[in-house]
Amino acid sequence: MNPTLRPAIDPAARMSADGRILSAMRIAGEVGVSGAEIARQLGVSRAAVWARIEELRKLGYEIGASPHHGYVLKATPDLLHADDLLSRMGKVRAIGRDIRVFGETNSTNDIVEKLARDGVAEGIAVFAETQTKGRGRLGRRWVSPQGCGLWFSVLLRPNLRPQAATQLTVISAVAVARAIERQTGLKPEIKWPNDIVFGTRKCAGILIELSAELDHIRHVVLGIGIDVNVAMDDLPPEVRPIATSLQVEAGRKIDRAELAAAVLRELDAAYHRLNTGDFHEIGDEWMRRCSTLGKRVQIRTGDRVSAGTAEALDEEGALLVRTDHGRVERIMGGDVTLEK
Ligand code: BTN
Repeated sequence: MNPTLRPAIDPAARMSADGRILSAMRIAGEVGVSGAEIARQLGVSRAAVWARIEELRKLGYEIGASPHHGYVLKATPDLLHADDLLSRMGKVRAIGRDIRVFGETNSTNDIVEKLARDGVAEGIAVFAETQTKGRGRLGRRWVSPQGCGLWFSVLLRPNLRPQAATQLTVISAVAVARAIERQTGLKPEIKWPNDIVFGTRKCAGILIELSAELDHIRHVVLGIGIDVNVAMDDLPPEVRPIATSLQVEAGRKIDRAELAAAVLRELDAAYHRLNTGDFHEIGDEWMRRCSTLGKRVQIRTGDRVSAGTAEALDEEGALLVRTDHGRVERIMGGDVTLEK
């Protein structure tokens, strides 16, 4: 379908009773919503609503109840709940139309890869509270401690040539940086191609896994890991000197569910712009947020190491580096480190 004509989807349509109850309470705010009104909206009895409210309370949702105000959502627990996330999304074009949450999994990228092969529509997002075999770029391990980060993957079916896949890394990095800024007030930078950093310390990374023919992409699994409330003690000693988390940077705990919904909304908006031919706008924002441009870098691709100055990003998302021999090299992958 022509992406400009794609109708906005309301993820709330996927919600079960819990999501719709949470949604009704969110809309009502401090005014509250009566059991009778929720029962009417859901087409169930008031007793059935009360039973679901009790289940939500057991999960840790603080729900006030008064004869005058009805039910009021006072506080939410620090856990990822698919219905809760769906109820925070609002309308989307693709990303976040469906959300699943696992307590534990090997890697959310593996789950989404399987969904892709089963023919699931693009936009589904899969979260895990912890991953036992989280992976990063270049075959590295991605440590994903329980209940304190955002570890998730999104299925995309973009109409792109494989050579332009770097554009997806670029739009994802911008979306993650924007959502972090919006939710925390912090100003993260982007280190090419996919690291979200504060100075020399990384707080988030993006892993794109591609299934493609020679001339077109079949599907993409976009994996994102964000160290939200991760303490440095939760990480292996070797990564501590180069890692940080949003909690460490902000000096306070960050609401993971709010951030998760914000990242999905920003991703959805950025992906829509890419699909409608507006990549250059996001590319410009990427350049403004990028800490790599203008710096001396070393690029390691397999066994090959070259050095130069990072100058710009091209229209396919490649990094343009002027080497010490005066040539401009297009860097599509590999490991870029800033020279000291
Ligand atoms: C990197 O910076 O090297 C990329 C890290 C990507 C980690 C995420 S966490 C969710 C998804 N599942 C994985 O196994 N990896 C990605």
